[in-house]
Amino acid sequence: MKDRPQESMRTYWDDAARKNAAWYVDTTLDFDTPDMGRFFETGRSIVAEALSDPSVVASGRELAIEIGSGLGRVCLALADRFDRVIGIDISPEMVRRARELVTDERVSFEIGNGSSLAPVPDRGADLVLSFTVFQHIPDPRVIDGYLREAARVLKKGGLFVFQWNNTPGARGWAARRRLLGFLQRTGLRPERFGRNAPEFLGSRVPLGRIRAGLEAGNLELVRTQGLGTLFAWAWAVKRA
Ligand SMILES: C[S@@+](CC[C@H](N)C(=O)[O-])C[C@H]1O[C@@H](n2cnc3c(N)ncnc32)[C@H](O)[C@@H]1O
Repeated sequence: MKDRPQESMRTYWDDAARKNAAWYVDTTLDFDTPDMGRFFETGRSIVAEALSDPSVVASGRELAIEIGSGLGRVCLALADRFDRVIGIDISPEMVRRARELVTDERVSFEIGNGSSLAPVPDRGADLVLSFTVFQHIPDPRVIDGYLREAARVLKKGGLFVFQWNNTPGARGWAARRRLLGFLQRTGLRPERFGRNAPEFLGSRVPLGRIRAGLEAGNLELVRTQGLGTLFAWAWAVKRA
């Protein structure tokens, strides 16, 4: 795959981080005065939801990876449950700010290339988690690539938990995204905060495509939640 989609995602999220990093990570915050206490508290709620089912657990507790770590709220919450946590994000500006905000020595942040988990060795991780990242990725092939990467880095018995946009109408969404992206780019009808850019609108991905990607990597889909919505979740266990 060419690097251009990666470059446009990086530029978009770097700009977002400079404008108002916390708000672009969580648009339910107040734009002018984001409550950072509440922001980090929501990291705990996200991890609690992701790891709530006692029958779906990672077999080890050494290393957790977050794909698209933003300002590190999820990584910090994961540090209560894992010895070490690595957040990987496409945006150097997000990573710089996360390093300033999260100084817990169990947590580190890496700049990723936007499609791989390259710093993590094969079979090195017990958990891979991603929240509100895949929903923003315009090209589903990048998401397919992350499914492959999760399979590569997970140990046998490791757990992959992620949220994605499973709202029906993937093709219609792609057409709408092109139109809104055009209106945003040309300034003909821009959304005030740039949320009509393809790098924010992202893609809708059917369950069949997710399932096929997981199966190709020996990841068994063991649980789903919120299918048919923006907040669809999947839990998959690495079998071999
Ligand atoms: C809405 S924020 C969510 C951050 C974090 N997961 C959280 O919930 O606090 C989306 C994050 O994903 C990152 N991102 C976007 N596209 C990415 C990609 N292709 N690979 C890795 N990170 C990406 C952005 O830079 C941004 O930090």
